[in-house]
Amino acid sequence: MDLAKKVIYQVYTKSFKDSNGDGLGDLPGVIEKIPYLAQLGVDMIWLNPFYPSPQHDNGYDVADYCAIDPRFGSMEDFEHLVQVCQQHKIDIMMDMVFNHTSTDHEWFQKALAGDETYQDYYYLRPAKEDGSLPTNWDSKFGGPAWARFGETELYYLHLYDVTQADLNWHNPQVRLELQKVLNFWLTKGVKGFRFDVLNVIGKSPVLIDSQEPGSAQEKSLYTDTPIVHQWIKEMNQASFGQRDDIITVGEMSSTNVLNGVQYSNPSEKELSMIFSFHHLKVDYQDGEKWSNPAFDFLQLKAILDEWQRGMSDGQGWNALFLNNHDQPRSNSRFGDPDHYPFETQTMLAQTIQFLRGTPYIYQGEEIGMTNPDFAEIDLYDDVETHNNYQLLLAKGVSPAEAMSIIQAKSRDTSRTPMQWDDSPHAGFTQGQPWLSVAPNYPQINVERELSQGHIFNYYQNLIRLRKEYDVIAYGTYRGLLLEHPQVMAYVREIKDQQLLVLSHFYPGTIRLTLPSEFIDRSAKKLIGNGPLMALNSEIELAPYETVAFYFNEQA
Ligand code: GLC
Repeated sequence: MDLAKKVIYQVYTKSFKDSNGDGLGDLPGVIEKIPYLAQLGVDMIWLNPFYPSPQHDNGYDVADYCAIDPRFGSMEDFEHLVQVCQQHKIDIMMDMVFNHTSTDHEWFQKALAGDETYQDYYYLRPAKEDGSLPTNWDSKFGGPAWARFGETELYYLHLYDVTQADLNWHNPQVRLELQKVLNFWLTKGVKGFRFDVLNVIGKSPVLIDSQEPGSAQEKSLYTDTPIVHQWIKEMNQASFGQRDDIITVGEMSSTNVLNGVQYSNPSEKELSMIFSFHHLKVDYQDGEKWSNPAFDFLQLKAILDEWQRGMSDGQGWNALFLNNHDQPRSNSRFGDPDHYPFETQTMLAQTIQFLRGTPYIYQGEEIGMTNPDFAEIDLYDDVETHNNYQLLLAKGVSPAEAMSIIQAKSRDTSRTPMQWDDSPHAGFTQGQPWLSVAPNYPQINVERELSQGHIFNYYQNLIRLRKEYDVIAYGTYRGLLLEHPQVMAYVREIKDQQLLVLSHFYPGTIRLTLPSEFIDRSAKKLIGNGPLMALNSEIELAPYETVAFYFNEQA
């Protein structure tokens, strides 16, 4: 299995394609669109959760890990999906939400009914002597991280929504149950696992107050603790590690390079790669997500550079991405899709995909889907969005300002239904979609893109080049022009080959002086979205232009 040559496509199942008119995407809908994904050229699809769930957090509140919610299809549909994917040489990655279960899960329900075996599956604690909550921790979705455990005197921990109860991994029985889940899906033909917020499973058995609720210091009390590595190794040995054809990726909240290397260096036998998020916090005002300043470009470059160098030096492996179901659309965030839809989208895609790691494409990226900019809070569905809208108002932010922050940062910005064509609801559903379609669907949709657009085709080429050029897949990384305020530049190198990537992140035309090492050498333009054809000591880059030049001393 050649991780470095693969490209993974993320399917947000609920918003991808509805086959039965209930307004929710489903597995038969995914099956229908597999030929489209094969045409794009991806090797694997990561499917967001479709297990039975009350959907308080869009399926990340799992009520049964080994079944399929009838709203999304049946086990027969899943088996059919595996077959159709095999015919198209596409593998399946499942989403494993192991930090917490839904409070509807049988384990939690048995615990509530008084079964002590299952009570030990969760973090249950009494109030402090003064009657206050067991610790002062904040939930990541806003409000306290503890809720009353039924009618008892106890509280249960929930780092996320109040319906997502944290599992007690200290209990070996819990770990065994979760390993069984992995093996269940492996026998169904799954070839990959994405582990949700995996680095927060290692809470200390003795939970203590933090210096400040919600602070970085608080997160350090339960993030990346040494025992996480131990438990991942154990899980690896008991399941996917017994095979050599399984790809795993851990979603690592607020992690650092040192831990990133340990999670993903093959000799550690933990995971194939990790998602880290620091590069997507460059438009947070003083670390606060619910704000909307211009993004800090130098910081974006510095963070990507730090991770590229650090993971390369430590033989770790990055997941490469700018989009997912928790992030605003990157073209709306870092570019100008109104005036430069093609240039913005392809520039961002090329910049990220030619780095060292495995690229992930989030559904709709390949046709340039944007944030929907809904003007009414009621058009948003996400629990985190609603909690934070209320928190903003409570802080005295005006409703208009709060809405503009929600438009920029809500997780629903990327969860709107996939835009297939210009028929009602963008051809996503014959019924009422669970979340409104973005209003620009008559202009931005798959049908139109395939007949007259250039973004999809550019993505096809990026994917193809990764397979053809070893320097893209395996080359080392070296950052260039790190202080340049408009251009991101780097070089990938392997043996006698080099790949120079230059990306202009702003409108307007700029002149750039190239480092001398690239001058007067024969270079081939591999791909680009703008006019630049050749390298000189001084070059010009058009708005949002990206270009990659290939040097081969042997040729
Ligand atoms: C991850 C998921 C996100 C979910 C959270 C809690 O961050 O990507 O969608 O809300 O974990 O499970």
